[in-house]
Amino acid sequence: MRPAPPSFRCLITAGPTREHLDPVRFLSNGSSGKMGYALARAAADRGWQVDLVSGPVALAAPAGVDVHPVISADDMLAACEPRFARCDLFIAVAAVADYRPQTFHAEKQKRPKDALTLELVPTVDILKTLAARKAPRQLVVGFAAETHDVEAYARRKLAEKHLDWIVANDVSGTETGMNADANTVLLLGANGARQEFGPAPKLQVADFILRNVVP
Ligand code: CTP
Repeated sequence: MRPAPPSFRCLITAGPTREHLDPVRFLSNGSSGKMGYALARAAADRGWQVDLVSGPVALAAPAGVDVHPVISADDMLAACEPRFARCDLFIAVAAVADYRPQTFHAEKQKRPKDALTLELVPTVDILKTLAARKAPRQLVVGFAAETHDVEAYARRKLAEKHLDWIVANDVSGTETGMNADANTVLLLGANGARQEFGPAPKLQVADFILRNVVP
């Protein structure tokens, strides 16, 4: 296969999202954004045009990458939508909060004296929404963060979200996966490909993913 030209466009989501209860409190996920930022850097190093839609993280923008900061899942989808239509490769790495409070309070709520029950509603599935609009020329890659039955759950997400590839990682330990500097991944393709990689620094993992997905 011919190498992707420098005009190749890549869209990546990274980091956690936040769903606010009030101006100071929110629901979120434990995610440093390191894997998504490493992928953005590896993509920019290939000369590609890279849009990185990022939840709140403590990481510097990789050189040559257009970073679009967002807070909530709805913000993330809105930032991705126009950019998805013109990308060649979409990689969803973000740890999107699965629920948001049904009610947002514009003023900070006082600490309750008794137990508090929150009514939560599901957030939008960004990856599934965009993958459903995929043109034949586009490639869509998802991540699956799992603590058990990693391969089985990843295969299910590959099929249910209509992806070309899924990167499964075991987040049950602390050495690799979320927040760590290294990762061990299992890359599964809709074409039947199956490859393991790592443990390795996240930039090497990013390079492994890109060279398999865009050979
Ligand atoms: N994802 C997304 N929008 C969501 C939830 C997930 O775009 N609201 C994407 C993630 O970026 C990742 C993939 O979907 O690429 C799988 O995310 P993961 O959290 O592993 O799975 P979920 O679909 O949330 O399922 P579960 O939490 O039940 O494992």
